[in-house]
Amino acid sequence: MSSLLLTGIGSLVTNDPARGDLLGELHDAALVIDGSTIGWVGQRRDAPVADAALDLGGRAVIPGFVDSHSHLVFAGDRAEEFAARMTGTPYSAGGIRTTVAATRAATDEQLTANVSRLVTEMRRQGTTTVEIKSGYGLTVGDEARALEIASHFTDETTYLGAHVVPTEYADDPAGYVSLVTGPMLDVAAGHAKWIDVFVERGAFDEDQARMILEAGLARGLQARVHANQLGEGPGVQLACSIGAAAADHCTYLTDADIDALASSGVVAGLLPAIEFSTRSPYPDARRLLDAGVTVALATDCNPGSGYSSSMPFCIALAVREMHMTPAEALWSATAGGAASLRRPDIGHLTPGAQADLTILNAPTHLHLSYRPAVPLISQTFISGRPV
Ligand code: NIG
Ligand code: FE
Repeated sequence: MSSLLLTGIGSLVTNDPARGDLLGELHDAALVIDGSTIGWVGQRRDAPVADAALDLGGRAVIPGFVDSHSHLVFAGDRAEEFAARMTGTPYSAGGIRTTVAATRAATDEQLTANVSRLVTEMRRQGTTTVEIKSGYGLTVGDEARALEIASHFTDETTYLGAHVVPTEYADDPAGYVSLVTGPMLDVAAGHAKWIDVFVERGAFDEDQARMILEAGLARGLQARVHANQLGEGPGVQLACSIGAAAADHCTYLTDADIDALASSGVVAGLLPAIEFSTRSPYPDARRLLDAGVTVALATDCNPGSGYSSSMPFCIALAVREMHMTPAEALWSATAGGAASLRRPDIGHLTPGAQADLTILNAPTHLHLSYRPAVPLISQTFISGRPV
């Protein structure tokens, strides 16, 4: 096992709560990568000797982004739907069925190549962990292959058989719920860590969603929920009552929803690239943060509601449009994502953590929102290896 000393770090974001401020930021710092983990963190003058050294000349180092919500296993795109939206056609979940048809018709190789392309895009933008959902197959075989393909790229795989009721079950939604909680779950359980449900008018109601999530929990999956995206509804409260890790979207919340998130510790996943691409109001991040809710930022990269793979873009939106401070946005895109995925080993740069980090072509993390849309990622390491 060899060690690498990164020195001359202008600003080092550790996310170590023991260091005081939210980001545990150090200036003129150094860090040692020991194999796949962080070996040492501190001031440059105190740095230990390592097998190799790299002087970063004052550049910033941050934990790699943890993108806790994406839908990457699909074929085709919906660029025309986006164009129509920009001239006034509102987003509706019905477009999901267009992608389902394209995905079913694609070969395994085509789907794998598409995931690979998007994961490469993400890594180039500093993402070191990504959660990937199924949900564009919606048959036993197509959901199983989506999860199988996703599992080649991440351990954070999510079974989303309950994305929408597919066309062939339009007259029998109860029959589809039986499939999702029965034979489809049987095959998904072998490939997935998580189970998710799109709780929304036009997708699944509270009773259906509870049945589906409880069936998944009984099979050892952990729960996360698409909640309160298109209007107020039962998703957030359901996530809190069943002990889900995360309620994602949280675009339309009541005071009671915010209280439930704060008291349950369920992470609120905010996905501002979706509001950008659907021209919807942004979630009220300040209200959530001020109530003490843990917030994660994620891309929700998908071909319909928002096709950005960029965590820096989400950070810039969170700061400009959602009134998060740059420090809060970066924390939510790293440690917040790790909390959402229940991963204590990532999202921070402290000794023993997985060595997932990003070097910026900038002196501080502030440049992520100060210089939006500029490619500031210089180098990313995953488990101590440059990618
Ligand atoms: O998270 N809301 C449900 N699912 C996706 C959208 C999927 C699609 O439109 O294809 C989302 O926004
Ligand atoms: Fe989603």
